[in-house]
Amino acid sequence: MEEQIAKLTEDCSAEIASAASESELYSVKVRYLGKSGLISELMKGMRNVPPEQRPAMGKIVNEARSALEARFSARGKELHDKELADRLAAEKIDITIDRNRPVGRLHPLSSVKKRLVDFFVSMGFDVMDGPEVETDYYNFEALNVPKDHPARDMQDTFFIDEGILLRSQTSASQVRYMEKVKPPIKMISPGRVFRNDDDATHSPVFHQLEGLVVDKGITMCDLKGILDMFAKHFFGKDTQVRFRPSYFPFTEPSVEVDVSCAMCHGAGCRICKGTGWIEILGAGIVNRKVLRTCGIDPDEYTGFAFGFGIDRIANIIHSIPHIKLLYENDVRFLRQF
Ligand code: PHE
Repeated sequence: MEEQIAKLTEDCSAEIASAASESELYSVKVRYLGKSGLISELMKGMRNVPPEQRPAMGKIVNEARSALEARFSARGKELHDKELADRLAAEKIDITIDRNRPVGRLHPLSSVKKRLVDFFVSMGFDVMDGPEVETDYYNFEALNVPKDHPARDMQDTFFIDEGILLRSQTSASQVRYMEKVKPPIKMISPGRVFRNDDDATHSPVFHQLEGLVVDKGITMCDLKGILDMFAKHFFGKDTQVRFRPSYFPFTEPSVEVDVSCAMCHGAGCRICKGTGWIEILGAGIVNRKVLRTCGIDPDEYTGFAFGFGIDRIANIIHSIPHIKLLYENDVRFLRQF
């Protein structure tokens, strides 16, 4: 029996060494060490061993079994590592950057919009956009522009259906905001707006950013302070801001706001058409009627509002002469920014 054990151990060791995969090794193991494997078969022969020799024989068999088990696990680890290494090599993906691929960038309108929003958010303004297809109520009536009123001519509007239009100003979102949020209010509404205008400085689609602040004791001074910081931040530290009286149905009093020309510093040039000033936005103290319509008591609260074209600001910052250039998506033009 001892010889048989030695022979089995030798055969098994040879098969362990030549097993080429973990699954092959596993079937060798089952064949030798399994419940009805060759070693168990051999143990059946113990019956024929004289009783006094059985303990010694049992010891030999057990030693052989544990030696084989150790060999199985050593070979198993070897095969496992090898199979893993082979798989990693076969499934390797090259994730390095293809440096020749063209890299995208933000459109100048998007990056200017982002800078503008960041500026107001840094001063604590909330941001809200509303629907581009609006109702007459939010775009006009709630803003003190009744039906058939001549003030409607200020904005040549695209109507879709009775009472439905493409919003001509993001002031519409401000009404929606005031319906939901009660003062103190400090918000901006950036977004796309539509008007039937088409020339070097006007496009039927453009972008506005309007601001609204409503609280107790808000005055024209607060408006001037914010716009002063805004102008200095975007057009340079020595930029001056000037208010000119104007008219908007939703603000009273209303102003048109100019900034000193960053190109000529007031001397007069092509950009400012020789005036030394560039008109950038409309603003004013929110009309009492608008506050009341939105459920805010105008005897308790006052507010200011302002609105400008993001496209216009982008054009001034980048000295772009024609608004259409922003919409043609000619990469030769866009690559410059
Ligand atoms: N909504 C005005 C426009 O589009 C701009 C504006 C906003 C004026 C807020 C005054 C106050 O022309």
